[in-house]
Amino acid sequence: MALDGLAARFGTPLYVYSRQALEEAYQSYVRAFADVPHQICYAVKANSSLAILNLFARLGAGFDIVSGGELARVVAAGGNPARVVFSGVGKTADEMRAALDAGILCFNVESVSELHRLNRVAREMGKRAPVSFRVNPDVDPKTHPYISTGLKENKFGVPIAEAPELYRLAASQGNLEVSGIDCHIGSQLIDLSPLVDAADRVLALVDSLAAEGIRLRHIDLGGGVGIRYRDEPQPDLAEYGKALAARFTGRSEKLLLEPGRSLVGNAGLLLTRVEYLKPGEDKNFAIVDAAMNDLMRPALYEAYHEITPVMSRDEPARNYDVVGPICETGDFIGFARDLSIEEGDLLAILSAGAYGMSMASNYNSRPRAAEVMIDKNEFHLIRERETLDGLMAGERLPDLISA
Ligand code: LLP
Repeated sequence: MALDGLAARFGTPLYVYSRQALEEAYQSYVRAFADVPHQICYAVKANSSLAILNLFARLGAGFDIVSGGELARVVAAGGNPARVVFSGVGKTADEMRAALDAGILCFNVESVSELHRLNRVAREMGKRAPVSFRVNPDVDPKTHPYISTGLKENKFGVPIAEAPELYRLAASQGNLEVSGIDCHIGSQLIDLSPLVDAADRVLALVDSLAAEGIRLRHIDLGGGVGIRYRDEPQPDLAEYGKALAARFTGRSEKLLLEPGRSLVGNAGLLLTRVEYLKPGEDKNFAIVDAAMNDLMRPALYEAYHEITPVMSRDEPARNYDVVGPICETGDFIGFARDLSIEEGDLLAILSAGAYGMSMASNYNSRPRAAEVMIDKNEFHLIRERETLDGLMAGERLPDLISA
């Protein structure tokens, strides 16, 4: 599919996804975990566009949600609520009601206060809420500190040592039904051994719970498998599958996984046009029409995304900082890239399928980008570019009393 044609038709910045790459990423999970009864619950936060959710729903995926908004998206996209797990440290009573109404698979509870609130909400509705505790196994995921979640000092989960007491408490509540256990230690893990270490700690806990009569139906090991952005070794999903298969043989619990990035990250790119080339004394800048509001990862985590010209040129490359038009020094896409480009050229920012569009904002009153899904030699517009009218739609001028 020629990207310049898509840019001409839909404008830039433009997110472009490949249906085949999305499906292939999903199937690689199915293959890797074929020997373990499992359910993949795609982490909606990675990319919550309806067409992407719909594609995974068709493939049989469940979903990991963290808000009422994500639940509404899953339902709107045709996802099955009975395959939804609800994570997050701050679930509101309204969100709990919506999820109980929809009949989700499980609430991943992250604190005692949340457990009590959930029991109360379920009682008011005359229902029983399926629960698991998100336990914090305190293993170091060896990833960026902002996206590491399973350490003692993180806000997530309950300490694994306190879990038995909490399970006893949950089991004693009339409107809760103990259903599973959950953990998620971090994101963009290149070395998968911390995931297996966490699994071992969780399995030991599950066995000790069973010994006192608390039996679980599922074990949710979260997401976190990393992808190649630059030259990282590609984590071996098949190895991870093998390690878990060995541990799950003979067990009755179903394995749940919550992958996000590894399902969508390398299935999407952000297409942008070079507006200006600005030679400087120390540096050259390539000012493009995508910015930190479209792709926040470089600004937020100094994340690296490969940037590649759509058309190659013969002229020798020059070194550029590729930056957006936003009025912040942190508004960059990539530093010190060797590129042979002219004004008006298109650049593809790679590995942008995960945490790209879903983290986009309207900063600097910039409408959010359009999105296209490519399916072999066809393309589908899956989200229109936002309009300025749309941006201002909910705003009101107050009737101020004149001074
Ligand atoms: N489950 C839970 C409870 C999570 O918090 C997350 C991600 C996932 C699953 C999916 O993790 P994944 O498979 O995508 O690693 N915005 C950051 C990533 C934040 C991840 C937050 N939690 C980034 O752009 O790198």
